[in-house]
Amino acid sequence: MATTTPPKRLGTLGIDIGGSGIKGAPVDLTTGELLADRLRIPTPQPSRPEAVAEIVKQITEHFADLCEGPVGVTFPGVVTGGVTRTAANVDKRWIGLDADTLFEEATGRSFSVINDAQAAVMAEVRYGAGRHVDGMILMLTFGTGIGSGLTYRGISMPGIEFGHVRIDGVDAEVNASANARDREGWSWSQWTKRVNVYLEHIENMIWPDLIIVGGGVSEKAEKWLPKIKTRAPIVPAELTNEAGIVGAALIARQK
Ligand code: BGC
Repeated sequence: MATTTPPKRLGTLGIDIGGSGIKGAPVDLTTGELLADRLRIPTPQPSRPEAVAEIVKQITEHFADLCEGPVGVTFPGVVTGGVTRTAANVDKRWIGLDADTLFEEATGRSFSVINDAQAAVMAEVRYGAGRHVDGMILMLTFGTGIGSGLTYRGISMPGIEFGHVRIDGVDAEVNASANARDREGWSWSQWTKRVNVYLEHIENMIWPDLIIVGGGVSEKAEKWLPKIKTRAPIVPAELTNEAGIVGAALIARQK
């Protein structure tokens, strides 16, 4: 009996640019699942735009047969209208750069660039920890810096930068990021004290219905989340490492 090969499912490519790695995978946007193992390539140091664009091109070519349509990319700084506006933890040459055009010229594909935490909150709201919550959802990602994304009834907005709230004259991410814990050699309790001070500042300004914590530390949530005191319920991200990739793909589809 003749057999037929099932048609290949095509996904939307999401790429997550981080300080140490650039990760990409095709995403099935009906379920939020990755359609293939993600590809991770170390971030070039220094993270100059042209060098990063070369990696984005490699990832795009690697998944060319599995993806269709525009590509979504996350960036660890403010992004408005496809232009990268800040670069707290990456090469300063990104400031004021038209990143959509940079990637489009490097690859010949259409691109949408978005802030990493904004992408993550969109993915969590659609497929993860925020999917059953109506109202305001704040996501905070604890990594090299602190990323923040805010949604209200599924609508997110760019330019939410709660990692740079000043506490005692110092950027919050200097003392409350996961990087600060590693740098200072703090125990979970010592670090959690700083995170509680930080979250108190945040909850003095906004009243979210749910707080989702992401970044590598969210995978060890049992070590520190029980020590956190917030007014709103606070939960770890469900998509963990994949939230950026999935959120990037979501924004690409909106293009
Ligand atoms: C940047 C944010 C970013 C966060 C996490 C912060 O330093 O200002 O835009 O989301 O780091 O990468």
